[in-house]
Amino acid sequence: MIILGIETSCDETAVAIFDGDSVTGKGAIIAEQIASQIETHAKFGGVVPEVASREHLVALPPMVDAVLKHTSLAWSDIDHIAVTAGPGLMGALLVGTSYARAAGMVNDVPVMPIHHMEGHLLAPGLEGALPAFPFITLLVSGGHTLLVHVKAIGQYEVIGQTLDDAAGECFDKSARLLGLPYPGGPEIAQLGVGGDGKRFKLPRPMLNRDNLNFSFSGLKTAVMYAVKGIGGLSNMDACDRQDMAAGVESAICEVLVKKSIRACVQMDAPRLVIAGGVAANNSLRLLLQQLADDAGIEVFLPQPKHCTDNAAMIAYAGFQHIRSALPASDDWDARPRWALADLAKT
Ligand code: KG4
Ligand code: ZN
Repeated sequence: MIILGIETSCDETAVAIFDGDSVTGKGAIIAEQIASQIETHAKFGGVVPEVASREHLVALPPMVDAVLKHTSLAWSDIDHIAVTAGPGLMGALLVGTSYARAAGMVNDVPVMPIHHMEGHLLAPGLEGALPAFPFITLLVSGGHTLLVHVKAIGQYEVIGQTLDDAAGECFDKSARLLGLPYPGGPEIAQLGVGGDGKRFKLPRPMLNRDNLNFSFSGLKTAVMYAVKGIGGLSNMDACDRQDMAAGVESAICEVLVKKSIRACVQMDAPRLVIAGGVAANNSLRLLLQQLADDAGIEVFLPQPKHCTDNAAMIAYAGFQHIRSALPASDDWDARPRWALADLAKT
């Protein structure tokens, strides 16, 4: 079964083709392209929705042509189109969904709407196979921080989430306080290498609360006061900035990892997946592997390029929908707001 995946929910235009066997569940990505708009948005300090839509509009059609050409496939070889229908920026989603619908209509290929977060949740399956159900996924992106109990394809229970800022948002906002460009996560990670993460006493929000929720806005505020405490950004030398970056990264990682392990223990699910852009963070991956090993929990990590936004995960989620014979309908629209919990109802 050949599935064409399309992703345009935010600032990456991505197209991929997954070739899978619906009986064995095995398959592989046979072509993939990602065009990042990061440089365009960096000068504004964040994603500008209208600019994002315009860039998707220009980038998407030639990218689809390119992956078809690369695989020597024709439209008649494509069995399904899987497209991100939400959540995300409305204009950006409309570019991908309208293109998918038009291409589907012209070429007589059915189109499936995919929840962007479900794509992230299932991305570890791109490495060969999904972990056995049930498993816990820590889904950490620029807009979301969720702990999800994955019971089966399409059955996702959110058991913990951020009450305010997402982990990626905390990376991005802290980076801005340190004068670093957007997106801040990779910048902080790079700056903090070799820094003393213990020098600045930054909080571990909600770590000791008896629940699986998160809160990161206080941490960002603590970074702001720590910067002020040493006389502001202009007064910080390279070593101060390096230690602060290391401190931010270790505070975020410690909370994420410890709560994820707790979730596995509480739900009696000894398999843990991390997904979403922040899951590309090397310190997070190392700490998670280390503490999970200690707790006897098996960890599944998608490769970094499949942690950040991509279309391989969207094509793969579509493949899993078909395999699981989830009900499909033509009656859908792009949904900028779409809770994962509502997935079962659509
Ligand atoms: O999943 P994603 O690519 O887009 C959304 O759906 O939000 O996640 C983007 C987020 C940004 O906040 C970015 O700073 C963060 O992921 N990120 C990282 C790293 N790479 C991306 N955060 C920490 N370390 C990284 N290496
Ligand atoms: Zn994402």
